[in-house]
Amino acid sequence: MDQTLQNKLKKEAGIKAAQLVKDGMVVGLGTGSTVRYLVDELGRRVQEEGLKFTGTTTSRRTAKQAEGYGIKIVDIDDVDHMDITIDGADEVDKNFNGIKGGGAALLWEKIVAINSNYYVWIVDSSKRVDTIGKFPLPVEVIPFGAGHVIKRMEKKGYKPVLRLGEDGKPIRTDENNYIIDLHLGRIDHPQELGEDLINMVGVVEHGLFLNMVDEVIVGNEGEPLILKNPNKNN
Ligand code: 5RP
Repeated sequence: MDQTLQNKLKKEAGIKAAQLVKDGMVVGLGTGSTVRYLVDELGRRVQEEGLKFTGTTTSRRTAKQAEGYGIKIVDIDDVDHMDITIDGADEVDKNFNGIKGGGAALLWEKIVAINSNYYVWIVDSSKRVDTIGKFPLPVEVIPFGAGHVIKRMEKKGYKPVLRLGEDGKPIRTDENNYIIDLHLGRIDHPQELGEDLINMVGVVEHGLFLNMVDEVIVGNEGEPLILKNPNKNN
């Protein structure tokens, strides 16, 4: 998809999702370029409409952006739960299984998601796929012994690549960990893969978010599409 169109669709999904935020809510704010549009719109609503809510964020980047608009951001342990969390995603299939972590924030994203009453993804239409896995699956690992984790993943045929920054060094997450991207091509058995990964010593979390999301807002040409997960009580 053309980048200009993709950004337009991301923006439309972000603006649509901002309508779900109501006065007094505790709102989990995700990470990524689509969420940036969401936060811009929430910031506008705070400043122009007097919207009042409390936020928790899935990255320091998002916290900085939100605080720039005067949005009150608190530590996740200072709230009981999130009323709603809105985040982006890298891929989503028709069973509401997805991949996240393209922006290296998957660990905080999963922690915020599981503590949310209602969980929403905002994506452009290019993120909808038949089978997940074309997007490399991010896995967060602790730096100690990461080379050995990579070797074990290679033996399993997971095609791991340590994610490097522009400086050629491994990128660090907000928890100071590394990201290994698995170039699988397609993931036919996501549940089994997720269980195998989480049981590997050194792995902190993986980017498979399986049937967790309640609603997906898809930026589409025309009005954004609202997809509700029939397997969830929403
Ligand atoms: C960050 C994420 C992002 O939500 C995901 O990568 C989508 O990003 P974008 O909105 O920039 O396409 O999981 O870890």
